[in-house]
Amino acid sequence: MPAVDPGMPGPIGPASVDDGVCTDIDLPLPGRREGKVRISYALPGNRLLMCATDRLSAFDRFVLAVADKGQVLTELSAWWCAQTADITVSHLRSLPDPNAMIVEAATPLPVEVVVRQALTGSTATALWTQYAAGNRVLYGHRLPEGLVKNALLPAPLITPTTKAAAGDHDRPLTATEVVRQGLVPAAAWEQVSATALALFSRGQRIAAAAGLLLADTKYEFGWHHEGHLLLIDEIHTPDSSRFWEASTYEQRLAAGAEPESLDKEPVRLALAARGFTGAGPIPLLEPAVAEQTSDRYRSAFTRLTGRTFRAAPGPVSGRLRAALARGEIA
Ligand SMILES: Nc1ncnc2c1ncn2[C@@H]1O[C@H](COP(=O)(O)OP(=O)(O)OP(=O)(O)O)[C@@H](O)[C@H]1O
Ligand SMILES: [Mg+2]
Repeated sequence: MPAVDPGMPGPIGPASVDDGVCTDIDLPLPGRREGKVRISYALPGNRLLMCATDRLSAFDRFVLAVADKGQVLTELSAWWCAQTADITVSHLRSLPDPNAMIVEAATPLPVEVVVRQALTGSTATALWTQYAAGNRVLYGHRLPEGLVKNALLPAPLITPTTKAAAGDHDRPLTATEVVRQGLVPAAAWEQVSATALALFSRGQRIAAAAGLLLADTKYEFGWHHEGHLLLIDEIHTPDSSRFWEASTYEQRLAAGAEPESLDKEPVRLALAARGFTGAGPIPLLEPAVAEQTSDRYRSAFTRLTGRTFRAAPGPVSGRLRAALARGEIA
């Protein structure tokens, strides 16, 4: 798991310093591992306590904290696991806290399984970045001429990338390379691809019922110690996915405007507008960017699940420490 970017600035921006946001979750448990967003601890019996902070990563860096994001990611992922339980077995066992899951530990595949149905994005691995640079064969798929930014592709494409180590960026792969490079055995890759497409299709159907377009998403799979594959990490959250407003999509596309999104694209665009593409110091973003992003995350939860979002009171670390002391997490 990549460590948090050591180059991140101390104060993370005016909106995030003292706003009740959660940027760390420090617990008296062994095996602390730190991702850009999640912090996990080891539990007995091959399990992990996966805790989600409010950190937002973009361009593979921790760029700002967004209130309630960790809770949305946790509760929304858990909801999706239930909606897709007939398609695949996931790592989720229980939800002891609104920001934490108890999961089966797995060995993550060294490949991120990205599924895309839109020609979009601004990072080096994004379809639009590569298409705009003149490439027409992307991730082993040939794309037609004349497509515009944010156009929907006729069918979803699997566009795998390497799962980069800390400080590195993900690299595009073709399905053939995934297998030839020995990253995933052929039969397992077939299973993973079929599962990813089935999950994406379910995700699109549920999003459509909520008036949203699921433009793309990223899945992770891992090997359980008993030898089977598990869906791990998160599923169909605004961190791992682009959700676009369906009702205004066509009109905005025709006008050459960006789709209305319920994901972290506003942060990516705000950073890109300041010339930030992943390297060097992280620009300070105005509080409104964090606030709007927080609204979008909560709105994604409410729209998709049809449930009211209720922010859990109190600091996350304090809640989890109390739950540990009461023996509720063991
Ligand atoms: N069941 C699991 N067993 C083992 N590792 C897991 C499991 N579920 C998720 N992980 C790993 O835990 C980490 C989650 O942390 P986080 O979401 O912060 O990831 P990251 O990869 O650093 O950031 P990003 O999602 O932005 O790429 C990831 O490295 C993910 O592969
Ligand atoms: Mg992650």
